[in-house]
Amino acid sequence: MQIKIETSPVEQLSLDALAVICFESDENPPPLVAAQNGWLQEILTSGEFTGKLYETVVLHRPQGVAAKRLVVIGGGKRATFSPVEARRVAGSLVRYLKAKGVHTLGLLPNQADAPTVTAIAEGTVLGAWEADKYKSDPKKNDKRIDSFVLSLPTAATPEIQQAFEQGRIIGEAQNLTRDLVNEPANKLLPSDLVAAARTMASSYNLECEVLDTDAMTKLGMGSLLGVAQGSSNPPFLIVLKYQPATTTGTDHLALVGKGVTFDTGGLSIKPSDGMEKMKYDMAGAAAVIGAMRALAQLKPSIPVTGYIPTVENMINGNAQRPGDIVTALSGKTIEVLNTDAEGRLILADALTYANRNGATHIVDAATLTGAIGVALGHHNMGAFTNNEAFLAKFMNASRAAGEKAWQLPMDEEYKDYLKSAFADLPNIGGRHGGSITAAWFLREFADPTPWIHLDIASTAWLDDGKGWLSKGPSGVAVRSFVQLALDWNHA
Ligand code: BES
Ligand code: ZN
Ligand code: ZN
Repeated sequence: MQIKIETSPVEQLSLDALAVICFESDENPPPLVAAQNGWLQEILTSGEFTGKLYETVVLHRPQGVAAKRLVVIGGGKRATFSPVEARRVAGSLVRYLKAKGVHTLGLLPNQADAPTVTAIAEGTVLGAWEADKYKSDPKKNDKRIDSFVLSLPTAATPEIQQAFEQGRIIGEAQNLTRDLVNEPANKLLPSDLVAAARTMASSYNLECEVLDTDAMTKLGMGSLLGVAQGSSNPPFLIVLKYQPATTTGTDHLALVGKGVTFDTGGLSIKPSDGMEKMKYDMAGAAAVIGAMRALAQLKPSIPVTGYIPTVENMINGNAQRPGDIVTALSGKTIEVLNTDAEGRLILADALTYANRNGATHIVDAATLTGAIGVALGHHNMGAFTNNEAFLAKFMNASRAAGEKAWQLPMDEEYKDYLKSAFADLPNIGGRHGGSITAAWFLREFADPTPWIHLDIASTAWLDDGKGWLSKGPSGVAVRSFVQLALDWNHA
């Protein structure tokens, strides 16, 4: 899909559909709509349209415009319309209209400030994505928007042009993440994740280093290797580096992503019901790859390194057993009480490695615990930190990017849930506060570096599609990662 800003008169745009936003009890409906011979009045009176968010009506052969259809979409209450709604309105338009065979779409926005324009570009690109790669129906490609134009009355300032471009870049990066998460585990082994990272890095001029089993054995990454030993497909630690042309400070951001390409649970095996979903246990890794691509294009002033430990949690004759004790890169010994708590085991070594390689700030994203869905449902990522000021900065970025995160506590008391009789720490706590003990486990390897852990187990995959987003991988955390790096020296 091509997307661009168009400043020739909106009446003249020859499009399959031209969309405008109307609000609830709108005092000032867009003139284009008001000019349709009382149509708006009619649909308002009949109740076919009220202006509620995402409500959509289509008028064929509208008056006074070259477009074939005039589409009115609800913006909800004008006073609460923000970039969050703009992103979703754009995505909803794309999804609703492509299903109706519209190929060229224009939007006349109600406001065109930089954050709104970015959000519209993102929403458009995200709305176009489908989880249909492995559907062989040749007709699937007919239902596709080929071009989207954002109609502005006057030439866009460089700031607005850049805001639009940024939205496109971030949306496309998030779709790369979704592509990777969408791959089934037989098509995406740890080695395939390596290949994807390498391809991305060489296309966008990032450095990419990959540690293999030998390198990790020499370093002593016993925690990561213990998980990997149950699979005949070897593990890797991928390192992606973005270095700005000039750096202004000494900060160095590390993004760490859990890359379990399939999680059977190991010998502490998962129930078969729903196990197929465990192909998305690499969504944190995919978010880091997507974010690194966007950063390579958007060039923030802070150096950013992505660390991606990637393994398969399988059960061959060499699989790790409950009760095994492994020695992590940091030197700490871990009693593996549950082989299904594998994410934290691979992240432990990646966090230590990030620390040893100069990270001054770390954010990790991981599909770490089922418990986070019990706590927060599907709308917020769980956020944990050892540094409140850093989390405050992250929360601002995340909010600006239109993603939601909710902080969970990390009081010292919770740390007591992690007691092992035989090693420095066990890899699980008790039945309660599962997401918090998981975070405390990670913290043992992140400290003392300012660190944030995002548990995305309940947000990385949408079981039901939304009007603006297809079902399947959401690409969550990409926008927060990117915004955090972009805002680094401004917020
Ligand atoms: N990959 C899972 C977490 C998960 C659950 C992700 C549901 C996505 C959806 C993780 O490795 C895991 O199995 N965690 C265990 C931890 C437990 C053994 C302490 C869990 O949540 O049950
Ligand atoms: Zn697991
Ligand atoms: Zn897992």
